[in-house]
Amino acid sequence: MRYHLTTFGCQMNAHDSERMKGVLEDIGYRPAAERDDADLIVFNTCTIRGSADERFLGNLGEAKRVKGERPDTVVAIGGCWAQAQKDAVFEQFPFVDIAFGPGEVSRLGELVARERLDALGAFSFDGEFSGSLPARRERAHQAWVQISVGCNCVCAYCIVPTVRGRERSRPPADIVGEVERLAADGVREVTLLGQNVNSYGRDLRADGVRTSFGEILRAVSAVRGIARVRYTSPHPKDMKEDVVAAMADCPEVCRHLHLPAQSGSTRILKAMRRTYSRERYLDLVARLRDALPDLSLTTDLIVGFPGETDEDFAETLSLVDACEYDGAYTFIYSERPGTEAAERLVDDVPDAVKRERIAALVDRVQDMGRRRAQRFVGADHEVLVEGPSRTAPDRIRGRLSQNIAVNFRGTAPPGALVDVHIDGATSMTLSGTQSEVAVLA
Ligand code: SAH
Ligand code: SF4
Ligand code: F3S
Repeated sequence: MRYHLTTFGCQMNAHDSERMKGVLEDIGYRPAAERDDADLIVFNTCTIRGSADERFLGNLGEAKRVKGERPDTVVAIGGCWAQAQKDAVFEQFPFVDIAFGPGEVSRLGELVARERLDALGAFSFDGEFSGSLPARRERAHQAWVQISVGCNCVCAYCIVPTVRGRERSRPPADIVGEVERLAADGVREVTLLGQNVNSYGRDLRADGVRTSFGEILRAVSAVRGIARVRYTSPHPKDMKEDVVAAMADCPEVCRHLHLPAQSGSTRILKAMRRTYSRERYLDLVARLRDALPDLSLTTDLIVGFPGETDEDFAETLSLVDACEYDGAYTFIYSERPGTEAAERLVDDVPDAVKRERIAALVDRVQDMGRRRAQRFVGADHEVLVEGPSRTAPDRIRGRLSQNIAVNFRGTAPPGALVDVHIDGATSMTLSGTQSEVAVLA
């Protein structure tokens, strides 16, 4: 039996897909290159913005065609869109056999085994954590580790709390145990995942477990064989001193922080219910720069939130200058049914204005990124090798601790840490030459 899996959305979903593959391959399924060759077509969906829905629905049409030609094909939809549409999915798309929420990855095997029954739904977000499930990693030397699921924030625009549920943290011993197993399996770099990764541990206190995100960073950094630790996404409100201190104390924790700001205007931040002002965000960035001078900083920004004026938007532009971001994901506000913003606010910024604003913002972010990348040129920097370059076959691809991609001339194998002399920078990529013999330490 063969399966074909398509993944949409964030790193959480990418990691959930690794587990879906693990679960399916454990019960004897093998991957198919095309949907046309698959006995089981799976989608792991996202519903963060309208564009995510559209991308998925375009692909779903193809599954319908395959199912029309080969009625035995099983179509399964998992992830956040499935959760959001749980009351409508089978009615709207009668050719769908299985639908399951983000918390039901562990039941995928059972659902597939029962697939001959009528359409099944399995919706919840209380499922098990990753560590206990088999996972098929894409890369030998890098792994995601889920430390929490769900989100207790109430950001007015955001659908995630509705589809991923309340925040639940995984016990520290489970996390460290998984990282130890990964390290023994050759993993050098782990990325800790959570919707609000640095509020980790609050819910465990009720069970008498005293821990914090800072302690997790320290514990994971101490695992033998782990050279790099990343995490995403932190919320500015939970970026406490202990987290900054753990970053400063642990050289394994990468000098990169993705710190979503969403807007530079205090008025809009308030309407978004982000719980910090522009000034408090800037204060935090100043503290981070102080403690971690070589930090690279990236962010998420939304334009066109209800009520956003030209003045508000100008404050978002100036935030890019003030924070000197190395990069940013920029989004046009998309109204999500059921969110506070959709229920209580009017999506009143005209489309043309939204498009103008995003174009101006993208320009500003790219200018800053180009300028910031120059700081690496002319010196040696440590690179973790990922594999051959995608664009130039005689080059190797790797990444700085600052999460910036490097294409370079050299001989180091994937997983090695090497010093590379950087001799050029485009906006998002550096180029250079390996400056010493590879060490696998
Ligand atoms: N939990 C993470 C990621 C949330 S989704 C965090 O809080 O950082 C990733 C990004 O999508 C958000 O940071 C936000 O910038 C954007 N986003 C979420 N909902 C959106 C919406 N309705 N319209 C436009 N962008 C949105
Ligand atoms: Fe969404 Fe806000 Fe939670 Fe991030 S912190 S997942 S933006 S509600
Ligand atoms: Fe999308 Fe769900 Fe992630 S809505 S962004 S896949 S948490």
